[in-house]
Amino acid sequence: MNSTVANKNILITGGAGFIGSTLAHALVSQGATVTVVDAMLPLYGGNKFNLHGIEDNVEFVEGDIRDAQLMDTLVAGKDIIYNMAAQVSYIDSKDEPFLDLDINGKGHLTVLEAVRKYAPGAKVLFSSSRLAYGKIRTTPVREDHPTEPLSMYGIHKLLGEKYYKYYAETFGIHTISVRIPNPYGPRQQMKHSKYSIVGWFVRQAMEGNTIQIFGDGSQERDYLYIDDIVDAFLQLTEKGKSGEVYNIGTHERVRFVDMVDAVVAEVGSGTKKHTPWPKNYEKNETGNYIADTSKIEAITGWQAAVPLKDGVKRMVEYYRKNKQHYW
Ligand SMILES: NC(=O)c1ccc[n+]([C@@H]2O[C@H](COP(=O)([O-])OP(=O)(O)OC[C@H]3O[C@@H](n4cnc5c(N)ncnc54)[C@H](O)[C@@H]3O)[C@@H](O)[C@H]2O)c1
Repeated sequence: MNSTVANKNILITGGAGFIGSTLAHALVSQGATVTVVDAMLPLYGGNKFNLHGIEDNVEFVEGDIRDAQLMDTLVAGKDIIYNMAAQVSYIDSKDEPFLDLDINGKGHLTVLEAVRKYAPGAKVLFSSSRLAYGKIRTTPVREDHPTEPLSMYGIHKLLGEKYYKYYAETFGIHTISVRIPNPYGPRQQMKHSKYSIVGWFVRQAMEGNTIQIFGDGSQERDYLYIDDIVDAFLQLTEKGKSGEVYNIGTHERVRFVDMVDAVVAEVGSGTKKHTPWPKNYEKNETGNYIADTSKIEAITGWQAAVPLKDGVKRMVEYYRKNKQHYW
């Protein structure tokens, strides 16, 4: 049993979503007392079924991180707070910049203010994104790589990181930010292709559709399986240094087209087709991304354990069984 979380009171914002709910399952299995708050906004991955099996062990609150009064109440008495709530689509952030700022900026500031007032001793983890880096100059990417985001989403994730660092340095609150690369696995939303692309492709393949690949699909990505993400979060909760930002990733250099091939091969249906990049996408293309994870490895020994092929297999098994809850 992980002594860091056993018997601890834990709040997960965005806890009905993909990453938050998987974290909730892990925390409950390790003896934590878990509260989930989620606004269940229709465009994102909040799904009650994600908490299937632990619904009796988790307090579920339907609410918004932008609600200061609610946050004041929810953070009080918590030992650890995992902040997964977000506007997650970098694509939508272009057309809805104020919504993105409202949730990814002000929403997180609201949580931090509540923590400062009512839970100053809590450890707080923030889910940031590889998109905080923007255009990639050299790979593997270290945490001190320049941060010049190409999307409103990336700009506001960086803003969030700065808030968390500020609260660590100014108020002594224990905060950590984690830059997540491309996550995939069970409980990922499959409603649209605006984020969590592996999930969308699994759905397309399962429906026997054609998967569109922009360009030659040679861009490298760091596809990180959900269990590895949760493990990294737990290890950083225990050993991460306050005020710091950590990359997580796999060391696997997987081309986009190879990810699609892995999905199609595992599902056993669906095809792929190359099409030219649409104009609006190309502007956001970061170039190859592979995380340098030596910083987290040095303090925790954490390394990703699940190769893409195995992760896709587990994911497809999950959706074959639970498809009706996701599309
Ligand atoms: N999925 C990705 O591709 C990806 C990549 C890098 C980082 N991240 C980050 O990881 C975190 C978790 O994302 P996910 O992949 O689990 O997505 P998700 O959509 O499955 O989960 C996000 C959850 O936040 C909830 N939420 C949104 N706005 C809220 C608000 N104002 N108040 C309360 N709840 C709210 C949603 O209802 C949803 O359940 C996010 O911070 C996201 O930015 C995701």
